[in-house]
Amino acid sequence: MADGTPHPTGAGASGRPWSPATTVVAAGRPPRTPDAPVNPPLVLSSTFVGAGKPGPGARTYARSSNASWEPLEEVLATLEGTGEDGGALAFASGMAAVSAVLALVPLGGRVVAPRSAYNTSVELLEQLDADGRARVTFVDVADTAEVESALAGGADLLWLESPTNPLLEVADLPACAAAGRGAGAVVAVDGTFATPLVQQPLALGADVVVHSVTKLLSGHSDVLLGAVATSDAALLQRLSTHRRVHGAIPGPFEAWLALRGLRTLALRVERTGATAAELARRLERHPAVGRVRHPSLPSDPGHERARAQMRGAGSVLSLELVGDDDGALAAALVDRLGLWTPATSLGGVESLVERRRRHANEPPTTPLGLLRLSCGLEDVEDLWADLEQALDGGA
Ligand SMILES: Cc1ncc(COP(=O)(O)O)c(C=O)c1O
Repeated sequence: MADGTPHPTGAGASGRPWSPATTVVAAGRPPRTPDAPVNPPLVLSSTFVGAGKPGPGARTYARSSNASWEPLEEVLATLEGTGEDGGALAFASGMAAVSAVLALVPLGGRVVAPRSAYNTSVELLEQLDADGRARVTFVDVADTAEVESALAGGADLLWLESPTNPLLEVADLPACAAAGRGAGAVVAVDGTFATPLVQQPLALGADVVVHSVTKLLSGHSDVLLGAVATSDAALLQRLSTHRRVHGAIPGPFEAWLALRGLRTLALRVERTGATAAELARRLERHPAVGRVRHPSLPSDPGHERARAQMRGAGSVLSLELVGDDDGALAAALVDRLGLWTPATSLGGVESLVERRRRHANEPPTTPLGLLRLSCGLEDVEDLWADLEQALDGGA
């Protein structure tokens, strides 16, 4: 969002508010004037014609505002329900967006954050703490009492991720957000695994929602991008200023690609979520599998919370094999897979599998043998057949 640019209302001529499935397709389009393009144009210019003092919303330099980010930001803001005072901002990557939110913490300020979450976010939080720039208390975000007690002395930021990567833990977002606000903290939620179609943290009490747009939002494993969204005009201004002065801006082409991918988000979320739930159900019954984590499963600790605050359970699941203390069985299973691609990341059209502890910065709370599966758009029967032959091949 360029400073001062109004957001669309998300309502068509009928006055009926658009559903999210319509918003992803219909919002962020150029005005319907004769001969106008249907898609927002890609604007490749680092500077814009102007003379004198720039007014509000005026384009000057492409680090401050860029026509190629704005349609994407409009769609994200509408999906997150930021309202007219708030908005969304695209960043160069998910980590650039995470960094911008962590930079809201004053020097020496207190942060409460998950000990088990996306590895690089945890790494950055540990760095901030080690460098004395913030005092971070790490908690189990699924344990609301632990979150509340960590907040007891007051805090500047409550950082949440839900569901968490890769343990799929579900935080009680309304309860944690209320506790965070009560402690005087800005409440931020990394909602990457859910997307705004499945979970809307702002409506559940958060101040800021953060996304790795790289994942499901873009959806094709061809772009790195991040975003923040907030209903709070003052926070939006601070985050926008941070982006401008630190320079973690998205490239116009990346933003254009992300919007192109976002147009099919509703279909992809529905299909990949259904595939993940079906595979989780089948995997749970396989004798070689010791544990499956996916909030769709009634056996999952996050099941009831997910039902209360999410519309679906997402397209990522994790599994551990029976007797796999050191991860050797998981590594061998990955080698036997033919359709699932062994690769990091998630949320693309192709199904990916990864043993997360292969990364040196993966939190030790992730079991050595945990495999994270990101379900893509392939036929669920083909995905299952590949998993089943790999599971049976190790018997
Ligand atoms: C939950 C979560 N948050 C943030 C990030 C960082 O996003 P990016 O890789 O776009 O910087 C990731 C990346 O995997 C993630 O899974």
